[in-house]
Amino acid sequence: MNSIVISGTGLFTPEFSISNEELVSSFNEYVDNFNIENKVAIDAGETGALEHSSAEFIEKVSGIKSRFVLDKSGILDTDTMRPILAIRSDKEHSVMVEMAIEAANEALFEAGLQAEDIDMVLVAASNMERAYPAISVELQSALGCKGYGFDMNIACSSATFGINTAMDAIKSGSATKVLMVNPEICSGHLNFRDRDCHFIFGDVCTAVVLEEKTPALERQLENVFEIEQTRLFTQFSNNIRNNFGFLNRQSDDPQKLLFKQNGRKVFKEVVPVVVNLIKELLNTAAVKTSEIKTLWLHQANSNMNQLIARKIFDHEPSEQESPTVLDEYANTSSAGSVIAFHKNKTNLAINEQGVICSFGAGYSAGAILLKRVS
Ligand code: COA
Repeated sequence: MNSIVISGTGLFTPEFSISNEELVSSFNEYVDNFNIENKVAIDAGETGALEHSSAEFIEKVSGIKSRFVLDKSGILDTDTMRPILAIRSDKEHSVMVEMAIEAANEALFEAGLQAEDIDMVLVAASNMERAYPAISVELQSALGCKGYGFDMNIACSSATFGINTAMDAIKSGSATKVLMVNPEICSGHLNFRDRDCHFIFGDVCTAVVLEEKTPALERQLENVFEIEQTRLFTQFSNNIRNNFGFLNRQSDDPQKLLFKQNGRKVFKEVVPVVVNLIKELLNTAAVKTSEIKTLWLHQANSNMNQLIARKIFDHEPSEQESPTVLDEYANTSSAGSVIAFHKNKTNLAINEQGVICSFGAGYSAGAILLKRVS
């Protein structure tokens, strides 16, 4: 059986960026207004006063300096504090498809393929804009891809699970060329009034094209990465939850259903899971950690990535060994490790190896061992 490769990647970055300072200034204005409006209840001990957020805190605990978003003014306006994204009519493209088209076109161009060469479209993301028709089927039609498509969601690990699913489909013969995209509208599930997490996420879309190695090399492409081994892991946890969904109208306060996490516990519990997963992946492939040049890690927290990379490499990782995009993009859920790969993959020389690794809600974690073959 021919090996499976990643022959193209793409990235859509929204035009608006919000700095920590801008986000915190809006949040603190909301806090001041809340505390004035609720002074009587606060003084009577019936309601707790809200506390200010801080740009220094955010950067120190997470490494995040800014985030890209689809809508800036609605998020920063203390009356709304959410992205204002108009509901699309049935005749318009969904927002996720619009994002995906841009990322997909870059990935297809890099792979030297046309949309009609694709016979499987996967939309793998933490949130879907609607229940059905599947976003992937709309994207398939918008681009003019052949075959079939389906949506899949395993939160922050959607992209690595998507790469694995695409690889399995090509190996089994149910597809020949797969487009796997990760349109993440994380600002849509984020409670910008919650100090603990208002800074965490950003919006973005990544795209990956997968196919057999021989045709990709025959097209004399420059950046082809062979999938040498994959490993996936899930274990149920309530420490990262998003209860927002189609049963929302049963709730009196849908805001309460948005993303929440116990960040400290996540940090403590997920680091060993990820380190074990990467070590198992490398053991199975009979590859030594010293042979790995780069870890393209999930981008949720720079301290967490530093720790994981240190445990794998056994020394303080350099920026090339564990590239960070968190400072600019924040946490973009499943897209994070793919952005890190997309922006830094050419740092690998031919025959050098690296690992894309995701982790997050579920818990879920996925690791993909890659070797640059052209
Ligand atoms: N500004 C200022 N202070 C804040 C704050 C903010 N925005 N948010 C929380 N604080 C305060 C807390 O109230 C707490 O105060 P206390 O010590 O008096 O109780 C203190 O700062 C520390 O908060 P904590 O939440 O424990 O910080 P942390 O060091 O754990 O960092 C995360 C928070 C979320 C950045 C971090 O835990 C993390 O990234 N974890 C991993 C999460 C992850 O990977 N999730 C995957 C999601 S897909």
